[in-house]
Amino acid sequence: MIRCMLFISLLLHSTLAQKQPPESSTTKWLTLSGEQPLVIARGGFSGLFPESSSFANQIAISTGLADVVVSCNLQLTKDGIGVCLPDVRIDNSTTISSIYPKGQKSYNVNGQDLRGWFTLDYTSDQLLNNVTLTQNIYSRSSLFDGQLPISTVEDVTGVKPPKFWLNVQYDSFYNQHKLSPAAYIEATTKHIIINYLSSPEIGFLKTISGKVNKLKTKLVFQFLSPDQVEPTTNQKYSSILQNLATVKSFASGILVPKEYIWPVNSNGYLGAPTSLVADAHKQGLEVYASGFANDIPASYNYSYDPTAEYVQFVDNSQFSVDGVFTDFPPTASEAIACFAHNKNGSKPRKGSALIISNNGASGIYPGCTDLAYQQAVEDGADIIDCSVQLSKDGVPFCLASADLTGDTTALVQFMDRKAVIPEIQQEIGVFSFALTWSEIQTVKPQIVSPFGNSSILRNPANKNKGKFLTLLEFLDFAKAKAVSGVLINIENAAYLASKQGLDIISTVTSALANATFDKQSTQQVLIQSDDTSVLSKFKDIPTYKRVLRIKEKIGDAPKPSVDEIKKYADAVTIPRSSIVIVSDFFTVELTNVVKELHAANLSIYVDHLRNEYVTLAFDYFSDPIVEIATYVQAIEVDGFLTDYPGTASKYMRCPCTDTDPKANVPYPILPAEAGSLLSLIPPEIQPPAQAPAAPLEAKDIVDPPLPPVAKVNESGVAGGPAEPTGSSALANAANVGLSLVAVMVLSLLYLGR
Ligand SMILES: *[C@@H]1O[C@H](CO)[C@@H](O)[C@H](O)[C@H]1NC(C)=O
Ligand SMILES: *[C@@H]1O[C@H](CO)[C@@H](O)[C@H](O)[C@H]1NC(C)=O
Ligand SMILES: *[C@@H]1O[C@H](CO)[C@@H](O)[C@H](O)[C@H]1NC(C)=O
Ligand SMILES: *[C@@H]1O[C@H](CO)[C@@H](O)[C@H](O)[C@H]1NC(C)=O
Ligand SMILES: *[C@@H]1O[C@H](CO)[C@@H](O)[C@H](O)[C@H]1NC(C)=O
Ligand SMILES: *[C@@H]1O[C@H](CO)[C@@H](O)[C@H](O)[C@H]1NC(C)=O
Ligand SMILES: *[C@@H]1O[C@H](CO)[C@@H](O)[C@H](O)[C@H]1NC(C)=O
Ligand SMILES: *[C@@H]1O[C@H](CO)[C@@H](O)[C@H](O)[C@H]1NC(C)=O
Repeated sequence: MIRCMLFISLLLHSTLAQKQPPESSTTKWLTLSGEQPLVIARGGFSGLFPESSSFANQIAISTGLADVVVSCNLQLTKDGIGVCLPDVRIDNSTTISSIYPKGQKSYNVNGQDLRGWFTLDYTSDQLLNNVTLTQNIYSRSSLFDGQLPISTVEDVTGVKPPKFWLNVQYDSFYNQHKLSPAAYIEATTKHIIINYLSSPEIGFLKTISGKVNKLKTKLVFQFLSPDQVEPTTNQKYSSILQNLATVKSFASGILVPKEYIWPVNSNGYLGAPTSLVADAHKQGLEVYASGFANDIPASYNYSYDPTAEYVQFVDNSQFSVDGVFTDFPPTASEAIACFAHNKNGSKPRKGSALIISNNGASGIYPGCTDLAYQQAVEDGADIIDCSVQLSKDGVPFCLASADLTGDTTALVQFMDRKAVIPEIQQEIGVFSFALTWSEIQTVKPQIVSPFGNSSILRNPANKNKGKFLTLLEFLDFAKAKAVSGVLINIENAAYLASKQGLDIISTVTSALANATFDKQSTQQVLIQSDDTSVLSKFKDIPTYKRVLRIKEKIGDAPKPSVDEIKKYADAVTIPRSSIVIVSDFFTVELTNVVKELHAANLSIYVDHLRNEYVTLAFDYFSDPIVEIATYVQAIEVDGFLTDYPGTASKYMRCPCTDTDPKANVPYPILPAEAGSLLSLIPPEIQPPAQAPAAPLEAKDIVDPPLPPVAKVNESGVAGGPAEPTGSSALANAANVGLSLVAVMVLSLLYLGR
């Protein structure tokens, strides 16, 4: 019954774009053959769908390179049928434990006692008709669970993958139970083609060697972890590695965990590569690296850009692996076809979206430091940004927030200055205007990891590096680097004027004038504020583009509101959630907000994009490049803020941005289509629809006029130190801790919303 449900409407547009065969002549690869490395989809697109399900296999083919290889991990049923499942025990990857609740057994597998549900206890009829697949990696979506049947080997080859790879994970074990993978393969290869046949068992490879046509089928020896023992020779894999010449006698290639090639040290950084690829190539062995997945953080060196990792393996100056085994075949495909050998990428086309840094390259260095801005410029940001804060003595400098506690070490050094200022935020903070500029220069910048105390940390090696810049230093830097423009963000102007006697408007105005940004039009100046009265103050300088920042999530922007915005601004900055509606990490649909704002000729900037996969809807394949492609190509925003300008720039300058099916691109990087992934899930288990966000109301747009700048003397600063909220300093510290945790939890809850 469930086997009839195999209809697939799928991200069909993926197949519409023409895929070019790999270019063999123009690029010289350091693979053994000199050809482009292969993308091997491990169990199809197993990063998104249950491994080896029909969805996984078909979508791997439609989103992968033209010669993508689809793999199947072979298990045998009681009646000797080959099925594709991730492990000899299938309780984590199927619904078997609920269909056959009494079926749990123990077996000794290669010397280890394992308990669970094993395929060899069931006939193919029992497994194929009654049991369905589930996602066995729990951080991935479970919404495809229970829908799709187990695939046989023929089911996989039936969807016609360009190439097929079969891995025989357990041979000795099945033979002990009177099932022979070799006999199964011998019979099967009469009607299907297996291009690659791999196994971690030497005995199996030697047996099969005489039974397959090696012109059609390459044999590959799989290395497991170095300390594991190869069951047929009782040698550790680490010692077999010392003798690659022997491996060459029974295999034409090796499959190794990627750490065999680029080890990651205990701090999470890449060390020097091993000589494995060179050694194997010297023996004439091809090298395939396994373990690639977008949603398993690899090394800090890649800055959460999964394409950077593939490029490290296929386009370093020393070697290229011959193929990558991945759970996310479209990401490996774009890395190989679009980003490898493209360090000299062309400039973006005219009119394409602006890359605006978000506190500089704040994913790599502490935000708003000299190093973060330097990195943003090197990485190709068009516009660099400065959120202007004022010190007590009125020095303007760049920092994400008026509260220093997140982005600096101020909380430790200036505990006594902490305060609660409800006009700015609910939580206790140490505010810039409570410290003089010379005091602020003594605090250290601190990299912010928005995903808190998890494994998703940002570049710990740069944790406290860099120094903060005054606004004048920032402007001088921007001029010297000849970036296309600067974005100056102004907040809290009314509070600063009335309560602190600080005039942020005239401070910014004169700094811009001093740096002659008002008398030129070569570098664009964007003045951004959430306050229309602030924007009004910059109305008289026609070269400044005024940007209204709407921080709240809005569901719609009706005409009267848009007309009101038009009076104050030329552009708006809005959060992602006002553009793409996301529910349970699935995109649902687009709002009309972009259309409505564009109809009034307002430019739209998205706030803001990040690399970390935990911020990405499943539709983007845990790949920040796909999210960028979606905003640039499908939604057609005018720019976006990003913590990682390098990732954006890499996309904008690659040869794969054109999605016209007639365009001759090596591989089209296609935008996600909102709602299309969700449509693969039966309606009854789809996440419940959320109430739409409120529309933007015209009356909420205009802010009251700015108050005059109060005369405040040394002692009389309003909103000074907070009333102590606890009986001791310790209690206060605990409160701060709590509020930080609360913010982290909230931001996790709102991820991708
Ligand atoms: C199944 O899941 C459990 C719990 O996460 C894990 O300990 C076990 O190793 C998994 N088994 C297999 C065969 O993947
Ligand atoms: C499994 O499927 C077979 C054949 O389709 C059927 O006869 C049997 O009742 C099913 N068993 C269970 C436990 O659902
Ligand atoms: C990885 O990053 C570390 C720290 O920044 C650096 O020392 C190292 O050279 C990098 N490794 C590679 C291979 O880029
Ligand atoms: C990249 O550009 C540099 C300088 O223009 C040039 O020397 C180099 O050959 C180019 N590299 C590639 C791969 O095109
Ligand atoms: C998380 O916090 C605990 C306790 O504060 C600390 O021991 C641990 O190292 C932190 N983990 C990370 C990844 O920062
Ligand atoms: C203009 O800049 C120079 C050098 O950066 C500085 O010395 C001077 O005080 C500034 N003037 C104003 C009005 O900000
Ligand atoms: C938008 O700009 C275009 C071209 O500059 C102009 O023709 C059109 O009238 C403008 N629309 C609005 C609503 O301002
Ligand atoms: C400070 O302000 C208060 C009240 O506005 C005023 O009475 C006092 O003279 C001022 N002190 C100085 C030193 O300016």
